[in-house]
Amino acid sequence: MYYATEKQMERLDNLATKNGLEIKQMMELAGWHIISLFSQLRITKAKKVCVVSGVGNKGGDGLSAARHLTNRGHRVSVVLMRSSKLSPDASHHLKLLNKMNVPVYIFSSSVGKKKIKNTDVIIDSLLGYHLKGAPRGLFKEAIEMINASKAKVIAYDLPSGVSASTGKCYDPCIRADATLSLALPKRAFRVAAGKKKSGKVYLADIGIPIFLYDKIKKGSRPKFEAYTHSLIRL
Ligand SMILES: NC(=O)c1ccc[n+]([C@@H]2O[C@H](COP(=O)([O-])OP(=O)(O)OC[C@H]3O[C@@H](n4cnc5c(N)ncnc54)[C@H](OP(=O)(O)O)[C@@H]3O)[C@@H](O)[C@H]2O)c1
Repeated sequence: MYYATEKQMERLDNLATKNGLEIKQMMELAGWHIISLFSQLRITKAKKVCVVSGVGNKGGDGLSAARHLTNRGHRVSVVLMRSSKLSPDASHHLKLLNKMNVPVYIFSSSVGKKKIKNTDVIIDSLLGYHLKGAPRGLFKEAIEMINASKAKVIAYDLPSGVSASTGKCYDPCIRADATLSLALPKRAFRVAAGKKKSGKVYLADIGIPIFLYDKIKKGSRPKFEAYTHSLIRL
């Protein structure tokens, strides 16, 4: 299995969009795979789920997951770091959630914080591979609150606060029970510190055309089709 750096992931995503696969389509698939992960982790509908979402594309993954889980009958709420200046693709998924009347709270409100404290499952969709240094401001506060909770934590792509390329775990960074990584595993999973924070790591196909993987590294595409489940357990 090939483990990619931040720059390689950025290049793969750019190649995908240049070839006509839109980010919001990739997010759609990233969100869809949560159903399979919940089934593998045996998370039932009795459990309350809270998606804690940033404003970048990792935020969009969580917002898409919130819709798919709601459609399947899970009790989902969303806590957003802020309500403005979301990435356009994350906004697309937020608009759909608003139409479905899924409860969305702002982290700085007292209800937002209460939701994080009183939930069974937290989906970390705060900071992805474009992390710049230690999580700051509200992100720092949210990560500390998530780590202090008793909820099961599932991180999208890699735990927020972990560097994709080096596996460095900034202070604070999410301590995940499971990670749902997208397209390619990140180098961080091969470094002891990053691996420890990621919990059980699963890898999902988000539809990137096979030939594009060869452009970042020959033969790097995971053989998703060789597995019976839609997720690869690393
Ligand atoms: N094709 C795609 O690109 C695609 C498709 C589907 C899903 N994804 C997911 O999106 C992620 C990458 O998306 P993205 O480029 O939007 O980046 P991101 O890593 O999700 O988030 C970038 C945002 O985080 C903020 N940020 C970065 N470092 C921070 C820190 N230390 N403290 C507080 N805020 C910080 C940035 O704010 P500033 O700008 O102020 O620094 C920016 O608003 C991937 O990990 C993947 O899971 C990507």
